[in-house]
Order: sequence, then C-alpha cells, then structure tokens
Amino acid sequence: MKMNLANIKKAKKLLLKMECIGIPTETVYGLAGNAYSDLACQKIYKLKKRPKNNPLIVHYFNIHRLKKDCHLNNDFIRLYKKFCPGPLTFILNLKKSSKISKIITNKRNTLAVRFPRHSVTRKLLKILEFPLAAPSANPSSRVSAVTSADVKEDFGKKIKYVLEGGRSSIGIESTIIDLREKPQILRLGGLNVSNIQNILKKKISININPVKISSPGQSKLHYSPGIPIRLNAKNIRMGEAYLLIRKKKINRSNYYFLSKKGSLKEAAKNLYTTLRKIKKKRYSSIAVCKIPDKGYGKTINDRLLRASRFNEKTT
Ligand code: TXA
Ligand code: MG
Repeated sequence: MKMNLANIKKAKKLLLKMECIGIPTETVYGLAGNAYSDLACQKIYKLKKRPKNNPLIVHYFNIHRLKKDCHLNNDFIRLYKKFCPGPLTFILNLKKSSKISKIITNKRNTLAVRFPRHSVTRKLLKILEFPLAAPSANPSSRVSAVTSADVKEDFGKKIKYVLEGGRSSIGIESTIIDLREKPQILRLGGLNVSNIQNILKKKISININPVKISSPGQSKLHYSPGIPIRLNAKNIRMGEAYLLIRKKKINRSNYYFLSKKGSLKEAAKNLYTTLRKIKKKRYSSIAVCKIPDKGYGKTINDRLLRASRFNEKTT
C-alpha cells in the first residue's frame, strides 16, 4: 500500500477535532476516535449504535505508550514480542492514573488493547499523542468492513473521512486473549490459538461462549449480513445463495466460493466481502457448506454460527 502523507495528516487533523474517522487495519477497518476524549468516544457509540456496556478496543503504536495506561505482565510481554504489531488483542488491567475515557471502560478496570500492523495506521498512530479507540467499522451486530468502500457504504456522510488503506489483508477480526490471570481466549480471530500456545507453553482456556458475557462480541447476533443463514447445508433451496469453501467443478451463478483451492486462510479473508456481495444480490437466504473445524476454519465457523442467529431473531 502506497503511503499518502497528506491523507494521514488529514486524518490527524480530524482526530484532533474529536471527529471519528474510518481507519484501515490488517484485520478489518476500524471506526476511530481519540481514546482519551469522552466526546470522541461518545460519537463512536452513537455512530455504531453500540450498547454502552460494550467496551472498545484501544489501538496503540507500541508498548512504551501503553505503559501509561495499563499494567503489563510476563505473558503479555512474550506475546507482544512475538506477534505485535499484529492481529491480537489483549485484556489487561487498567492503571488508576490512566487517561482512557470512562465512556469506554464504563466502570470496568480492564482495557482491551491492540497494536495494528497496517502501515498506514501505524504511521498515523506514531504521529498522534493519544491512542485510538476503534471498534470494527460496521453498525452493531452486522458484517465488518474490509475496504474503505464498505465503511462508506455503512456510514455514508455520517463520518467525515475514511483513511484509505486498501483491502484488509487478514479480513477477520483480531483474536482476543484475557491475560489478567490464566490466559483465556475470548474471541477466535486472525491469529490461531495454536500459535499463542506455542509461545506461552501453558494451558489456554477457550471461553468464547460463556454463561456470563465478558466480551459482548461473544454472543447473540453478530457479524450478520441481514439475511438468514443455514449451516452445514449439503444442497440448496430455491432463492438461496450457496457459500462454499472451495470452487466446485460445476459453477452456478448462485454459488460463491471463498477460496479457489480451499485454503482456510484465504477463505477467512474473503468471508465478509462475500457475505456483503450475496446480500446485495437480494437472495432470500444463504446455505453454507460444512467447513472444517480447524485453524482458520474455527474462526469462520464461529462467525457464521453467530451470524446465523439472525434466523432466531426474525422467526
Ligand atoms: O480486529 C479487531 O479487533 C478490530 C480492529 C478494528 O482492530 N476491532 C474490533 O473491535 O473487532 P470490536 O469492537 O468490533 O470488537 C471488540 C470486542 C468486543 O466484542 C468487545 O466486547 C470486546 O472486544 N472487548 C473490548 N473491551 C473489552 C474488555 N475490557 N474486556 C472484555 N472484552 C472486551
Ligand atoms: Mg465488531
């Protein structure tokens, strides 16, 4: 991605005025604002129609800047050294002296933090004197955005600017790990748990469907294209689009494959774009083939299962 400094300066100027803007990251686009400003954070909640009890991820340039706001621990430092900047979000304890807006933390003493790898957003973070609160740039409960066009489609003139960064290279949200006590995965995502396991070399529990919700992305309807989804479908019904992992020999106009050769990583990258494409073609629903439950397949299955709850909501 070619770096356009004028664009980055424009983004900075708007953020200094407490405006919200779209920013590219390697996972998905974010809807960003000054994480130290109540006003900017309030705007994010309003634009996304996000429930106030759902906290935001805060994006930092590096560990030195994070130290001002959070308590760090050994597991964090090991994972930071190996995977950051990258698609991993950490839940840490907030320092009492932190300047993070109370709008984000909402009486919690924890913070979700991430160091995005995308070069344009890294450049922006580097020249700012505050971190960026940025949830995924989509209306609450809907499919995330992986291009600037997706963000503009979702928010139109409601946001003043989207910083161009091309298409997100991973295409699916970051993995979230709670490192306050024993490591716990709260959301599957762009970094596979086996990679984390190899570094921490201790038990990591997966807690993505808890009874008590600690990370609101963990439950209810989420990532929905706005039409019903039928999982593990062996064939299709009238009016349905068929979502496949791998290209079939016979190809019909309502067949959508996520990867030519069946790569689960490529499939994850193409998932949201394909769901948006299907929605626009006005199919009544989406039938999804069985997807292998390993590696990135686990993340894809997690997203599709939550998206399929649209059915429960409408019936
Ligand atoms: O890849 C990503 O993580 C993208 C890009 C833009 O960085 N961001 C993203 O943000 O996916 P969002 O807001 O759509 O999802 C963040 C998730 C939510 O499910 C939220 O509940 C959870 O992180 N979260 C935020 N703060 C938390 C906290 N203190 N404790 C537990 N979960 C938290
Ligand atoms: Mg989201």
